[in-house]
Amino acid sequence: MTKMTDKTFFTEKKKKLTLIKSLFLVLLVVLSLYHFHKPKTLKKDIEIPKCPTVDIYRPSNYESNKELLHKIINDPVYRNISAGKMIRSIQCDTSSYDDEPEDVENNLESFERFNVFHKQLRDDFPLLHETLKLHNVNHFGLVYIWQGSDSSLQPLLLMAHQDVSPISEASLDQWIHPPFAGVYDGKFMYGRGSADCKNLLIGQMEAIEELIKIGFKPRRTIILSYGYDEELTGVRNKNPAFIEEMYGTKSMFAIMDEGGVSLQNISNSTMAIVGTGEKGYIDVSISIQKKGGHSSVPQDHTAIGIMGSLIVEIEDDKFETHFTELNPTFYQYVCLAENSVDIDAVLKHDILYSQFDDDANSNIRNFINSDRLTSYAIKTTQALDIINGGVKVNALPEFVELRLNSRIALEENITFAYEKFVKNVETIAKKYDLGLNVEYPYNKGEDVVILPPTDVGVFSVKSLFVLEPSPITPVGDKKWKVFAGTTRHIYEELAYPEIYENSEEQVIVTPGLGTGNTDTRYYWRLSDYIYRYRPGVLPSVTANSHGINEYIEFDGHLQIIAFTFEYILSVDELDD
Ligand SMILES: *[C@@H]1O[C@H](CO)[C@@H](O)[C@H](O)[C@H]1NC(C)=O
Ligand SMILES: *[C@@H]1O[C@H](CO)[C@@H](O)[C@H](O)[C@H]1NC(C)=O
Ligand SMILES: *[C@@H]1O[C@H](CO)[C@@H](O)[C@H](O)[C@H]1NC(C)=O
Ligand SMILES: *[C@@H]1O[C@H](CO)[C@@H](O)[C@H](O)[C@H]1NC(C)=O
Ligand SMILES: [Zn+2]
Repeated sequence: MTKMTDKTFFTEKKKKLTLIKSLFLVLLVVLSLYHFHKPKTLKKDIEIPKCPTVDIYRPSNYESNKELLHKIINDPVYRNISAGKMIRSIQCDTSSYDDEPEDVENNLESFERFNVFHKQLRDDFPLLHETLKLHNVNHFGLVYIWQGSDSSLQPLLLMAHQDVSPISEASLDQWIHPPFAGVYDGKFMYGRGSADCKNLLIGQMEAIEELIKIGFKPRRTIILSYGYDEELTGVRNKNPAFIEEMYGTKSMFAIMDEGGVSLQNISNSTMAIVGTGEKGYIDVSISIQKKGGHSSVPQDHTAIGIMGSLIVEIEDDKFETHFTELNPTFYQYVCLAENSVDIDAVLKHDILYSQFDDDANSNIRNFINSDRLTSYAIKTTQALDIINGGVKVNALPEFVELRLNSRIALEENITFAYEKFVKNVETIAKKYDLGLNVEYPYNKGEDVVILPPTDVGVFSVKSLFVLEPSPITPVGDKKWKVFAGTTRHIYEELAYPEIYENSEEQVIVTPGLGTGNTDTRYYWRLSDYIYRYRPGVLPSVTANSHGINEYIEFDGHLQIIAFTFEYILSVDELDD
């Protein structure tokens, strides 16, 4: 009897194993192919999220105003007159400057430019000024009230802001057209405020003039509210308090303001993204106080060197990404998955299964995170924006300050983000043996000693400005149906019938995240229904808002007028 040697035994076993392994691999490949390419039949027991898809919506009296709406969108004479109003509004330089006094009452002359703008508005919109009642709030804030016949109905509130972001002198020579010239070339309108957001303010006023001309008398009160320091975080804006005093909390039917993305092509679908929420916001100051001295006898690490380590620590410790139903961005992708004509099958699967399947969730987070322009929507961001320190090249710095700005994801909050930064500082403070004092955002003026001060020095952390993530506007109800359905109507039937008339494709109107913070942050008490959406063609990032050569495609401006005109008519027909 020949005994099978260990060696042959193992060889045999290995062969068998290899065979099993190969079979297993084949099975895996088949399974994964099936997993990625066949799963279009969705499991019955799992509830797949739904896009709040809407039908096209028109007011019941649409037919009688159809000709006028076509004129607004297409008529060259109308366009010419409208362009003139935009040009004159851009020519009123209403820049907001960082050193603007907060006390308006005693510094009226510093705001004189708004009087010039107000006069221009009176000249260009005579009917509106005859018909609506104007309240000047905190001197330069504008609140117009168009009284409705039925005061039991909640007013509709339309917003924009009068001020524009300032021009840096250094960039002046890079403007193709001077920023306050207001140049129109037949297709594009150039100038500061053309996109952010005099187009919205002027467009709303043009729509109201047209409504007055056709003899419309609102049942539901309409309010226009225009602040004058939106670019300075709105601390002088007393309009919302004024409106709340008149009408009470949660008294508005809905609020519309700038924000969101007009139209954007995502994976070959055209989407209109209505901002139904905003991220939170925090500015943090982190400073080091350290003994100075002559730089001929330095310590191993100066205050600047230690701050350098902290910078690396913060930037390497990124916030996590999230893809959850708490964030309106989630529905943006669900809408894409459900409505896109040619979306990639794997992407579609991952979106629809993201709330049940960790791998799908991770795939979709990686997909969104891979592009800077989409990644901001699914995580708290951090940007180190200012650093100050050192005064003399031969003296050791005694004080260094870093300022950072963080935009808070909807799944997180101010406290959560702040603690991440405190943790980063604590790590570095321990490493270099410094003390650490922290002033927490909701305990202003009270320092907490996390690490006692040492001979080396001390870190101080405090917040400068905080805003929690916003409440989320409900969607899927009748208010959403009117807002989103009007948007579809304007784009598909009025503006671009040649693309949509005989096509399966639609403009996918979806909730999403506002790209920044708007004045609506002070209006949360007035309504749960806040739509941050400026009709138009280009997303605001493309339109160079805040940058050089801000511009709009003028078609977009005409769409604002048509949208506002129709939206007011439709809302007027609804009951609360
Ligand atoms: C409007 O038309 C008039 C007359 O043709 C022209 O002089 C003017 O420049 C036009 N305005 C704009 C903004 O194009
Ligand atoms: C989207 O794509 C279409 C066709 O490819 C193009 O005509 C349109 O200008 C694009 N829109 C935006 C907002 O990029
Ligand atoms: C978009 O359309 C182009 C041309 O039809 C196609 O090649 C591409 O794969 C599509 N992209 C996506 C993400 O579906
Ligand atoms: C803040 O967010 C953290 C983490 O998500 C959570 O544990 C905490 O309860 C939140 N605090 C508040 C006040 O919402
Ligand atoms: Zn703005």
